[in-house]
Amino acid sequence: MSNLLKTNPEAEISLRRLRPRLERFWQTTEASLEEIRDFDERLTEIWPRLFRLLIDLYGDRYDFFYHLEEILLSAARAWCDRPQDLKELDRHRVYEENWFRSEKLVGGALYVDLFSENLGRLRECIPYFKDLGLTYLHLMPLFAVRPGDNDGGYAISNYRSVDPRLGTIEDLRLLGQDLREAGISLVLDFVFNHTSDDHEWAKLAQSNDPEYRDFYYIFPDRTIPDQYERTLREIFPTVRRGNFTWHDGMEQWVWTTFNSYQWDLKYRNPAVFRAMLEEMLFLANVGVDILRLDAVAFIWKQMGTSCENLEQAHSIIQAYNALAKLAAPGLLFKSEAIVHPDDVVRYISPDECQISYNPTLMALLWESLATRETKLIRQSTSHRHQLPNETIWVNYLRCHDDIGWTFDDQDAALVGINGYDHRQFLNNFYTGQFPGSFAHGVPFQHNHETGDMRISGTMASLAGLEQAIQLNDDHLKDLAIRRIQLLHGITLSIGGIPLLYLGEEWGMLNDYDFVKDPAKAGDTRWIHRPKMRWEFLEDLGDQLGSDERMIRRRLFNSVKRMIALRKSIPAISGLDLELVPLINSHVFCFVRSQGGDRLIVAGNFSEEPQEISGNLLRTAGLGRFFEDVISETTFQTSSNLKLDPYQVVWLKRV
Ligand code: GLC
Ligand code: GLC
Repeated sequence: MSNLLKTNPEAEISLRRLRPRLERFWQTTEASLEEIRDFDERLTEIWPRLFRLLIDLYGDRYDFFYHLEEILLSAARAWCDRPQDLKELDRHRVYEENWFRSEKLVGGALYVDLFSENLGRLRECIPYFKDLGLTYLHLMPLFAVRPGDNDGGYAISNYRSVDPRLGTIEDLRLLGQDLREAGISLVLDFVFNHTSDDHEWAKLAQSNDPEYRDFYYIFPDRTIPDQYERTLREIFPTVRRGNFTWHDGMEQWVWTTFNSYQWDLKYRNPAVFRAMLEEMLFLANVGVDILRLDAVAFIWKQMGTSCENLEQAHSIIQAYNALAKLAAPGLLFKSEAIVHPDDVVRYISPDECQISYNPTLMALLWESLATRETKLIRQSTSHRHQLPNETIWVNYLRCHDDIGWTFDDQDAALVGINGYDHRQFLNNFYTGQFPGSFAHGVPFQHNHETGDMRISGTMASLAGLEQAIQLNDDHLKDLAIRRIQLLHGITLSIGGIPLLYLGEEWGMLNDYDFVKDPAKAGDTRWIHRPKMRWEFLEDLGDQLGSDERMIRRRLFNSVKRMIALRKSIPAISGLDLELVPLINSHVFCFVRSQGGDRLIVAGNFSEEPQEISGNLLRTAGLGRFFEDVISETTFQTSSNLKLDPYQVVWLKRV
């Protein structure tokens, strides 16, 4: 018995009572003695913590012990069903527990239908991913969805079947195997805050089944919703005001944080916790390496609060984490919390989500491009980049969602910026309204009451490429390309898993045709989710071609090269980072180190040349001679380093 159990008598007694039931369960399976022993060892270790989490969440329920037993049996069943090759991988991962913090990791994300039409064809795209250097592939939700609008797959009607237009679960399994063989990890969404309104549970709720009505937040009139509403924000205010939707069939109000057809699950009910646990472990056993936990901030509601980032939301995820360690030990969680930076980090720990999107860095890179100043990104990075051991950021520039300016107002105030005004400026800038702006973005979810707005647009369109091509101005085209290279140069080196939204690698522009599809017209995020243009890629190898072809080729080759370089620089792994104190306010400069390896990264965020003092670089750890590995140029610290407009350099001692 572990020491932890000895000091936790309630946990110990409960486990003692559950063991014979578990024993009876094993007898009905073909699990080997070794498999049972492995599970048991993990159970002994995890139990005190898991028990504490569950009793805090559900201990006051009359049927707590029933749920506890069911939850444990669900985990045992999932472990029995776990395919041998995944069990093998689990064993590996235990020894290489930091594999996901390596410089070798580079991610890509895509919608299967838009990229390759279906899963079968996606398997044929693996050489493309390998050529680019990807080792992590996030497929946007590909499960069965409601007909019509489905929020890009985020309104799931069945977690165990693939959208028939894309293929079958078997295709997904085969893809997972092929990816694994190619050294690429598979990342899928776990959309657990809500189901579609046509999910079986929602349908049973609609037919007035009391057990399933308790899976959702359903109210007969506005009394309770109005009370909640006083402290809630609106996530999709242009879809519907407030957070509740009237359901004609039931003649009741349903909690719908996002679209009206996405019904929030009621995690106060342990039956919901277990039902979603089973869906999660099913996904794990299909061969997923990393689960992206969608919309984590919203999973627990409490009257009188914002119903975001509540303590119990963390407990739910931690309990899932413990159960995953039990039933699918190699699985990792990635948190999607696009909230205040102080709240983002609360989801990140080895016992909660080992990986997290880094929305603050993303927003501040765009902020720096707009202002040509790096004071805010420096201020924020100085105290927000470090994370607990055994965890890591995912650094991205664009994803399938909008950009929200989620920086901290206090960080802004410290460098003389008013947060509210600055957000207005950034919205004006990125919708192209600010005089002189290079960006072609469009508003997303403009709330006319609060003035709040987020931004849609592809990376290349936001970085000025669309405008430059429209104006057919070679100088502007060059600047836009340099901006894109600068941004990649930072996300690929700053520490964390870089994640490309595919299409970004060749400078995909906004697609204004999304409005022609009625299921997409109401959501401007479709502007940056165009269909893959394979004919563009066929051009990449050609030496001759139109101007636009050359731009695509230049972008593609440079990001591919930086990816390969990244993988050869051990200093890029992990998160160790030191900012270089700079006099020049347009430059962002930091030192990365790991073991004996050191890399200095400097990026010029302005369209004017800038200088960094050689002496500063020398004291930051460069010897007398050093090389920028990107341009393969050698310099001396005896003179100042000149940076071209938007140039990014990766400096190593020679
Ligand atoms: C997440 C997804 C977003 C979706 C929302 C509701 O934030 O990234 O695309 O609209 O959750 O599922
Ligand atoms: C979705 C929305 C995003 C919002 C977020 C909240 O990702 O697209 O705009 O801020 O949910 O988690």
